[in-house]
Amino acid sequence: MLITFILVILGLFSSTMRELTRQVGHDGPKWIVLDGDIDPMWIESLNTVMDDNKVLTLASNERISLSSSMRLLFEISHLRAATPATVSRAGILYVNPQDLGWSSSVHTLMQGHTLTHTYDCPLSQCILALRYVTSWIDTRQAQSERANLTILFDKYVPYCLEQVRCNLKTITPIPENSMVQTLCSLLDCLLTEDNTPPDSPRELYEIYFVFACVWAFGGALFQDHLIDYRAEFSRWWSKEMRAVKFPSQGTVFDYFIDSDTKKFSPWIERTPRFELEPDVPLQTVLVHSAETICLTYFIDLLLQRGKPVMLVGNAGVGKTILVSDKVAKLKEDYMVAKVPFNYYTTSAMLQRVLEKPLEKKAGRNYAPPGTKKLIYFIDDLNMPEVDVYGTVQPHTLIRQHLDYNHWYDRQRLVLKEIHNCQYITCMNPTAGSFSVNPRLQRHFSVFAVHFPSAEALATIFTSILSAHFLQGGFSYGVSRSVGTLIQAAICLHQKISQNFLPTAIRFHYIFNLRDLSNIFQGILFALPDCVRYPIDLVHLWLHESSRVYSDKLMEEKDVELFNKILLDTGKRYFEGIDESIFIHQPLVYCHFAHGVGEPRYHQASDWEKLQKTLTDALEHYNELHAVMNLVLFEEAMQHVCRISRILEAPHGNALLVGVGGSGKQSLCRLAAFLSTLEVFQITLRKGYGIHDLRSDIAALYIKVGVKNIGTVFLHTDAQIPDERFLVLINDMLASGDIPDLFSEEEVDMIVTSIRMELRGLGLIDNRDNCWAFFIERIRRQLKVVLCFSPVGFTLRTRARKFPALVNCTAIDWFHSWPQLALQSVSTTFIEKIPDLEPDVRASISEFISYAHTSVNEVSVKYQQNEKHFNYTTPKSFLEFMKLYGNLLGTKRRELTQKMERLENGLQKLQTTASQVEDLKAKLAVQEVELWQRNTDTEALISKIGQQTDKLNQERAVADAEEQRVGTIQAEVTTQQQQSEEDLAKAEPALQAANAALNTLNRLNLTELKTFPNPPAIVTNVSAAVMVLLAPHGKLPKDRSWKAAKVVMSKVDDFLQALVNFDKEHIPESTVRCVRDEYLSDPEFNPEFVRLKSSAAAGLCAWVLNIIRFHEVHPIHTNTQCCIHPTHTNTQCCIHPTHTNTQCCIHSTHTNTQCCIHPTHTNTQCCIHSTHTNTQCSCLFPPQVFCEVEVKKLCLSQANADLAEAADKLEAIRKKLAELDCSLDTLTAAFEKATSEKLRCQDEVNHTNKTIELANRLVKGLEPGTMSRRRLCVETFC
Ligand SMILES: Nc1ncnc2c1ncn2[C@@H]1O[C@H](COP(=O)(O)OP(=O)(O)O)[C@@H](O)[C@H]1O
Ligand SMILES: [Mg+2]
Repeated sequence: MLITFILVILGLFSSTMRELTRQVGHDGPKWIVLDGDIDPMWIESLNTVMDDNKVLTLASNERISLSSSMRLLFEISHLRAATPATVSRAGILYVNPQDLGWSSSVHTLMQGHTLTHTYDCPLSQCILALRYVTSWIDTRQAQSERANLTILFDKYVPYCLEQVRCNLKTITPIPENSMVQTLCSLLDCLLTEDNTPPDSPRELYEIYFVFACVWAFGGALFQDHLIDYRAEFSRWWSKEMRAVKFPSQGTVFDYFIDSDTKKFSPWIERTPRFELEPDVPLQTVLVHSAETICLTYFIDLLLQRGKPVMLVGNAGVGKTILVSDKVAKLKEDYMVAKVPFNYYTTSAMLQRVLEKPLEKKAGRNYAPPGTKKLIYFIDDLNMPEVDVYGTVQPHTLIRQHLDYNHWYDRQRLVLKEIHNCQYITCMNPTAGSFSVNPRLQRHFSVFAVHFPSAEALATIFTSILSAHFLQGGFSYGVSRSVGTLIQAAICLHQKISQNFLPTAIRFHYIFNLRDLSNIFQGILFALPDCVRYPIDLVHLWLHESSRVYSDKLMEEKDVELFNKILLDTGKRYFEGIDESIFIHQPLVYCHFAHGVGEPRYHQASDWEKLQKTLTDALEHYNELHAVMNLVLFEEAMQHVCRISRILEAPHGNALLVGVGGSGKQSLCRLAAFLSTLEVFQITLRKGYGIHDLRSDIAALYIKVGVKNIGTVFLHTDAQIPDERFLVLINDMLASGDIPDLFSEEEVDMIVTSIRMELRGLGLIDNRDNCWAFFIERIRRQLKVVLCFSPVGFTLRTRARKFPALVNCTAIDWFHSWPQLALQSVSTTFIEKIPDLEPDVRASISEFISYAHTSVNEVSVKYQQNEKHFNYTTPKSFLEFMKLYGNLLGTKRRELTQKMERLENGLQKLQTTASQVEDLKAKLAVQEVELWQRNTDTEALISKIGQQTDKLNQERAVADAEEQRVGTIQAEVTTQQQQSEEDLAKAEPALQAANAALNTLNRLNLTELKTFPNPPAIVTNVSAAVMVLLAPHGKLPKDRSWKAAKVVMSKVDDFLQALVNFDKEHIPESTVRCVRDEYLSDPEFNPEFVRLKSSAAAGLCAWVLNIIRFHEVHPIHTNTQCCIHPTHTNTQCCIHPTHTNTQCCIHSTHTNTQCCIHPTHTNTQCCIHSTHTNTQCSCLFPPQVFCEVEVKKLCLSQANADLAEAADKLEAIRKKLAELDCSLDTLTAAFEKATSEKLRCQDEVNHTNKTIELANRLVKGLEPGTMSRRRLCVETFC
C-alpha cells in the first residue's frame, strides 16, 4: 500500500493513518510516503509515532497507533530544517546522483531494475529521472529506434552533461536529470512518424538527437553582455560534435531542422511578416524575431505533448508577451488560466485559482470542461515568499501536481486527480527567490530568454515604426530616417544599460525592452504635422529618450551623465544635423502644446506659453475642485507634462517617486484634469483593510470597465497600511486582471453589460471575449499612479516583492527643487504677503531659497560624514515659508501693539505733565488746610484737657460731697432714729403731762384757787408749778400759796401757760429746784394729792411728767457736742468745718447771730442762752437734761442740712452733668476734628503720592527722553 502526498497537513496525516489502521486483510507493509520538505513544526508532532510508542496523539486526545505493518517514509532533498529528534528517529539513506553515474545507471536500469530489489521502495527523484529515460526509450515503438537512441544517448549525453557541469552556466540552476528529461521530451516531440519514419537511417535520428541535445543542454545557458555561454557551447559543440554539421554561420542555436529537407535552416526564415494594428498598445505588440520564433517553436512542441515549459529571463525581455501571444493563438481545444504570482501568493490561493476552471469528472477525477486541455500560465514563478524553513508553499503544490497528478481537497481531505492540465511558467532569475526548488525545477524544460540581440531589436522596432509611418502618411524623409533612428535608439539603450547598472539603492535602474517600447510608443504619438522633417523626428526621439531613461534617474549627476550620453549618441548617428537641436529648450512634448482643447502630441514652443496653458488649466481646475495652490515653475510644468504623457499612453501607469511635498499628487491631479480623467483615491479610515480596497477597486473597475469613464487611481504610500494592498495593485499593473475580484454573478453581470458593445464591434460575444474586452478597457482607461517616497528601504523592498511596481510603470523621479524653482515659489509666496517693501521682497525670497538649498548641501555632507540622512523636502520648504508668513504676521501684530502702547504712554505722559501742576496747587491748598486743621485740633485737645481737668476736679468735689452727704445722711438717719427713740421714750411722760393738763380745767382750778389754806402738799404743788413756769429759770422766791393764787388768778392764762409750757427747754436750775425741793417729797404724788384736790393732783401729775419727760433725754457732757457726742467743744456742733466763731448751724449766720435763734447773740449759746462762747452750745457738764425739742430741732436742722447738702450735691451733679455734656460735645468735636485732620492728612498723602508718581512721569517728560520715544515710535512705524 502506498500513499503519497506532499502537503502534509496534520489533519490529512491523521486521517490517512486512521484509514490505514482500519484496513484489514492486507498483510504487506503499508507505506505512508511523506514527500516534501521537512517542517520541524509539524514533524515534532510525529515524534511519538516514530519512536517506540508508535502512537499519534491528536489535539482531540484521540490516539492512533502505528501498527506493525505500517511504515513512514520521508522523501526529502535536504535535512536543513530537520531537528535531531527527527533525524535520530529515522533511518537515513542518502542517494547521491553523482555516485549513481550517468551511463552505469542507464545500463543498470536497462538491465535488471535492481534498485527496486535493493531498496524495496520508491527512490529519490534523481533515480526516478534516470529510470524515466529508460522507460522513455522503452516507450519507443521501433526496435531500431530504441537501439539508435541508446547509442546516441551514450554518445552525446555524458559529454554534454560534463560540459555543462564543468564549463558552462545555466540561467538558473537546473538538475542534470532535468536536462536529460528535457532531451527526452524534445525527442518525444521531434521523433514523430513524419520526421523519422520507422527504419529511418541512424543519421536522421542523429540530426534530430543533436538538435534536441543542443536545446536541452544549451537552451537554458546564461548570456549577458559580458559572458555568452551559449556562444561558448556552440563553439564547443561545433568543435567536438562533428558527426552532425551545423552551418558555419552564427551559432548552433540559430538553426532548426527543416522537416522537408531534413537540413538546418535559420530560424529567421520562419519569422512572419509584421502588421501593425492601429491603436494597439505597443506593450502588447509582439514582433517576432529569430529568438521569439525559436522559443515559440519549442513551446509549441512541448505543449502538444503536455510537457511543462519554463522560460527564464530577466525582466522585460519579453517572456510574458511571448507566452501570452502563444497561448492567445492556441486552438479552441485549449484553455488558459493565467496565474500571476506575487510575494503573498499562498498554496491555498493557488489551489483555488487552479481549481477554478476545473470540472468534476467521474470519481475523484477533475479536468477542464469537455476534452479541452488546460494550460496554467504561471508568471513570475519565483515571486512567492520563502518561509522560514525554505519552503515555497505554492511551489510544493505545483510539484505535487506534477509528480502525482493530484492534490487533496482541503476541506474533505480526499484526493483529487487532476487531468489534462499542464504548465507554462516564466520567471526572472534576478527577482524573488531567484531559483526554485530543484525538485520542482526538474519537471520543466527550461529555455533562457535573453535580451534580444541588436538585430532582433532593429527588426522589431523597424517593423513597428515603418508600419506606423507608412500608415500615418509621414513624409518620405521621415520614413527614410527610421533606420538611423532605431540604430541610435538601440545604441543609446545599450549605453544606458551599461552605464546605469542596478545597485541596492538604484534598484530600479533596469533598462529593458519595455523602455525601448516606451520610447517608440512616444514616437507613435506624433502625427505627421508634428514630425515633418527628419530633424523633428530626432527631436522627438531626444525627448522620448529623456522621458524614458532620464526621468527614472534618481540623482542629478546621473541625469547629467545621461544628457551627455544622449548628446554623444545623437551626434554620432545624426551627423550633419544642426547641433543646436540637442540643446534646444524646452525639450517638452505634450498633448496640450496647442492648448487644452486640441489634444495633439506636439512640442511646447516656449515656457511662457506652456505656463499660461497650465495656469489656465489650474484655474479651471480650482473652480471645479478643491483649490490647489500650485506654483508652476519650470520643473513643476515639466512634471505635469511627463505625467500627462504617461497618462495619455495606452496602458500607461506612473510611479512618481519623490520626498513628501514635492507635488506628486497635486501635479498628477492637474495632469489628470488636462487629460479629462477623473481621479479616484481610497479614503483610509479606521479598520480599512484589504477587503475594503478590493471592493473599492471592484467598484472602480465597474465604473471604468463598464461605464467607460477614464480614471486615475491615485495611490500614495500613506495609503498602504497593509503590504498586501500591493498584491492587488501589482495585479492591476501587471495584467489588469485581479483574481477573485468579482464573484461569478458579478462577472456575469459585467459580461452581460459588455456583450452588446462587443456585438456592436462585430466581435464574438462569448464570455471569455467579453471578459478580455473588459480587462483591456480597464488597462486602457484606468491609470494607476503611485506616489511613493524614496526615503528608506520601503520602496526597494516593495519593488522586489511586487515587480510590476517598477516594471509596469513609467517612473518619474522628483528631484529636489533647484534653487531657481525654489526662488520662483518663494517669490510667489512673498508676493502674497501684504505690506512688504518691494525692495526687500526679492532679497527675502532669495534668502528663503538660499537657506533651503544650503541646508540641502549640508545634509549631503552630513550624510557623507555621519551616515545619517536629513531630508529637506519641498514640503519643509513650503512649511518654512508658511512659518515665515505666520511669524511675520505675529511679530507685526506684537509690534503694532507695542507701538500703540508707546503712543498711549506718550499721551499719558503729556496729560500727566499738565496734571502735575494742578496737583501741586491742589496739594498746597490741602497742606494749608491740613495745617489749619492740625492747629484747630490741637487747640481743641488742650481745651478738652482743661475741661477734663476741671471736670475731674469737680467730680472729685462732687465725690467728696457725695461722700459727705452720705455720711451726713447716715448720721442724720442715726440721729433721727435716736431722736425718734428719745421722743418715743419722752412721749409717755409728755402724754402723761398733757393728760394731767387735760384733767385741769377752769372749774377745778378755780376750785383750787379758792383754797384758803390748802394743805402743804397742795402748796408745794403750786410752788413747783410756779418754779417751772418761772420765766428763764428765775426761781421765784415767793412760792407761797398766795403767790400761787396770783399765778392762778387768771385761770385761762394759767392753763394756757401750762399748755404752752416749753417743756423741751426747761432750765436745769428749774429742774434741779423742782426735783430737789418738791419731788423729793413723797407726798408729791398725784394720787395722794388727788385726795386733797383734783386740780392739784393734775398739776402734780403735770409737774411730775414734765420732769420725767425732761429726764428722758440723754445726758450730754459738755465735752460733747450737743448734736453729736463726738464733737469737741472746739468744733462746731453742726458742721465740723465751722469754727467757734461761726454759727454752728448755718454758715451764713454771722457770729453775732444765734445759730438757733435769731435773737441769740454771739455771746450766747446758740442753743441755750446760758451757754458761753467757749462752751458747748448744748450742754453743761455734768448737767443732764432732756431736750427733746432741741433734738428735734437738731434733727430737722440736720435734715435741712442734708437736704441742703443733697441740693448742693444735686447742683454739683447737675453741673457735673453739664460739664460731662459739654465734655461730650467737646470730645465729639475733637473726634470730628481728628477725623477731619486724618482725612486731610490722607488727602495730602494721596496727593503727595500722586505727585511723586507724577514726578517720576514728569522726569520722563524731560525733552530728551520724550524725543527718544517719539523716535522709537517712528522707527517702529
Ligand atoms: N518581440 C517583441 N516585440 C515587441 N515588443 C517586445 C518584444 N519582446 C518584448 N517586447 C516589449 O517588452 C515589454 C516587456 O515584455 P514582457 O513580456 O512583459 O517581459 P517579461 O520578460 O518581464 O515578462 C513588452 O511589453 C513589449 O513592449
Ligand atoms: Mg513578465
